[in-house]
Amino acid sequence: MQNQDDTNISFVDLKAQQERIRPQIESAIARVFAHGQYIMGPEVLRLEQTLADYCDVSHAITCSSGTDALLVALMALGIGPGDAVLCPDFTYTATPEAIALLGGIPIFVDVEPDSFNLDPCEIEKGLQVAKLNGLQLKGLIAVDLFGLPAAYDRFEQRAKELGLFVICDAAQSFGASANGRKVGQFGDITTTSFFPAKPLGCYGDGGAVFSNNENLAETMRSIRLHGKARTGGKYDIERIGINGRLDTLQAAILLEKLTIFEIELKQRQHIADRYSKELSPKYIPPNDPQHVRCSWAQYTLRSNTADRDLILDGLKSHGVPAAIYYPKPLHLQPAFNSFPCTSTRMTVASSLAKTVFSIPAHPYLTQKQQTKVIEKLNWLADQESL
Ligand SMILES: Cc1ncc(COP(=O)(O)O)c(C=O)c1O
Repeated sequence: MQNQDDTNISFVDLKAQQERIRPQIESAIARVFAHGQYIMGPEVLRLEQTLADYCDVSHAITCSSGTDALLVALMALGIGPGDAVLCPDFTYTATPEAIALLGGIPIFVDVEPDSFNLDPCEIEKGLQVAKLNGLQLKGLIAVDLFGLPAAYDRFEQRAKELGLFVICDAAQSFGASANGRKVGQFGDITTTSFFPAKPLGCYGDGGAVFSNNENLAETMRSIRLHGKARTGGKYDIERIGINGRLDTLQAAILLEKLTIFEIELKQRQHIADRYSKELSPKYIPPNDPQHVRCSWAQYTLRSNTADRDLILDGLKSHGVPAAIYYPKPLHLQPAFNSFPCTSTRMTVASSLAKTVFSIPAHPYLTQKQQTKVIEKLNWLADQESL
């Protein structure tokens, strides 16, 4: 069902999605109320099997958020005080936050201008920076920004040669794939988020980790549950863990949302195709490479630096919401500015922070609403001030 009010454009429309499957969601919630197993109820195990099947991966383990998924993954890989981990300078704060929470040292690397993702050439530089700072580099976290998988084929092998682990932070890219591999299969561990606005979102916080490695999966299962031993009783604790479980209610909701997820991904692609075809060449469209399926968590354009505020003001005055992900590269954030970087200027990340803006691209945007977004943007592009 589509939002009937074509004039009122939402940046993300969770209401329209809810209307579409509301009876199924209400029944799923009612079933949880009936059995009353709010923690680790049967829906959690069913969701984990469904997610593993969807991604064609051996293990899917649900978590309380995408941030905890990163924490669980890093803990399973043994990250502790002083260990260095590369991560892109242009991502959400949760990526380096999880490293720093464990006492690790995020080393910020620059991103590619077209994909916005970790630049594989930066890995060697990151290695040098770690050496110069007397740090032991243990691995890297690549982020699939806005739903586009990072260039795993171009750096997984090199990371292996260097003895580095690879975590794929797929908080924004669940449902995407690249060169025949689905998100969930990349790196040693893939993590994702089910935050409500994500491509697959629940009605609260949620996340998951994925791996084909049996030992890592067992360790992550234990860490997610206070370090509980695989065998033995509830109070047999074999390692330090966290309370990182997904609520049964959220699992029940996600199982229903998964039934329409593929349709939603196709609709996201349809909208992205239309934008890329019909928007003025004054805007630089996002990358949409062949052999890659993007999950279009965001449709993000680039403008000239001087124009972005004018564009955003113009869109706002015409009732078209827009957002900036992200207005500051992480190395400039007070929380992170003491950590090392591969360069002092971080040229690409710094430039993207000044030029990117995301426009509504959720799967319930009507044809008329899409047309309005395109017309307003193209009208703005024709103004002499731009
Ligand atoms: C790239 C990235 N990593 C991690 C997270 C954290 O996910 P959560 O909000 O579920 O903790 C997010 C959330 O926006 C994200 O965008």
